[in-house]
Parts: sequence; C-alpha cells; structure tokens
Amino acid sequence: MAEILLIYATSDGHTREICQRLKQVIEHAGQRVQLLAIADAATADLESYDKIVIGASIRYGKHSRQVYEFIERNWRIIDSKANGFFSVNVVARKPEKASPETNPYLVKFLKQIPWHPKQLAVFGGKLNYPKCRYWDRQMIRAIMWMTGGPTAPDTVVEYTDWQQVEAFGRLVAEM
Ligand SMILES: Cc1cc2nc3c(=O)[nH]c(=O)nc-3n(C[C@H](O)[C@H](O)[C@H](O)COP(=O)(O)O)c2cc1C
Repeated sequence: MAEILLIYATSDGHTREICQRLKQVIEHAGQRVQLLAIADAATADLESYDKIVIGASIRYGKHSRQVYEFIERNWRIIDSKANGFFSVNVVARKPEKASPETNPYLVKFLKQIPWHPKQLAVFGGKLNYPKCRYWDRQMIRAIMWMTGGPTAPDTVVEYTDWQQVEAFGRLVAEM
C-alpha cells in the first residue's frame, strides 16, 4: 500500500484543512497518509514515503521561509518520488489567476526553487478579517479594495473550490 506524506505550511490553519480533505480522499482510494506540519517534517524520514506533497499558503506575496528551506534541503529526495505542490492564496479567487500557469505567486515561486513538482495546484484561500490582527486586517482590506475584493471588516469568505481539492486528491492517489 502506498504511503503518502502530506506536508503543510500554514499561518491560520486553512492549508491544513485542505490537507485534511486531501487525506480523506486519498485514504478513500485505499492509500495511507501521514499529515505533518512543515516544522515537524524537518525531522521526518522522507525516504520511507512513496509520494510527497507540500501545500503552502501565501502571506504578503510569499510562501513562508520554512517552505524554501525545506525544499532547498530535501528537493532531491522529494524529486526521486511521485510528488506535488500546491499554493493557497486569495488572488486565486480570480479565475484568470487560479491555475498553476497563471497564478503569479506560483509562477514566481517555481522560478525560485530547484525542484520541479510533478503535480501542481492552486486553491483559493480563506479571508477571515475578524481573526486578523488589526494591521493585517487594514492591509488586506486595502489590497482587496484595490483589487475589487470584499472590504467589510466582518467579512469571512472561503474561496476554496472543494471539488477541485478533491480532484487533486484523486490525482495524488493515482500518481
Ligand atoms: C496577513 C495576511 C497576508 C496575506 N497576504 C496575501 C497575499 O499577499 N496574497 C494573497 O493572495 N493572499 C494573501 N493572504 C490570504 C491567505 O493566503 C489566505 O487567507 C489563506 O487561506 C491562508 O492560508 P493559511 O490559513 O493556511 O495560512 C494573506 C492573509 C493574511 C492573514
């Protein structure tokens, strides 16, 4: 039975939630899944897995430094297996920026890392203004105002297409 490692880099938990849905789908397809936060993945025995997938969210235009460091250290092992990467961000709420080829963060990220993930995905993230710290909320509202998104300070909106997440889960099970 294939053993899959799903690694998530999250600030507010949404990328972990996406990984939990992927886990359900992959387990439903009869494979074993281990879910690890990127900090814990640093000490995991990567060689022991058949497939490795990393998911990471965007904060102020970037994936976290931990993601770059983890990939820098481990990309050769990851690359020797079936593998994938997905990015979570709210720019992906716009259909024209929602694919791996058109999402500006993912396009830029792939140019910065030595690894070429075999499977790629972009998922819309979650905006939760009440949960944000004051200055984060003001900053994101300003960005949303400039890009035609919601600005009401009580906005909680999930742009994630869960069917797309489930389809990616099936792809990971098949790869
Ligand atoms: C402080 C902060 C900064 C963010 N910056 C961006 C950004 O620059 N571009 C973007 O598309 N989304 C941005 N987002 C939206 C997040 O990517 C989105 O909320 C995502 O669901 C977060 O996932 P996580 O909970 O796994 O960290 C930001 C969110 C926060 C809270």
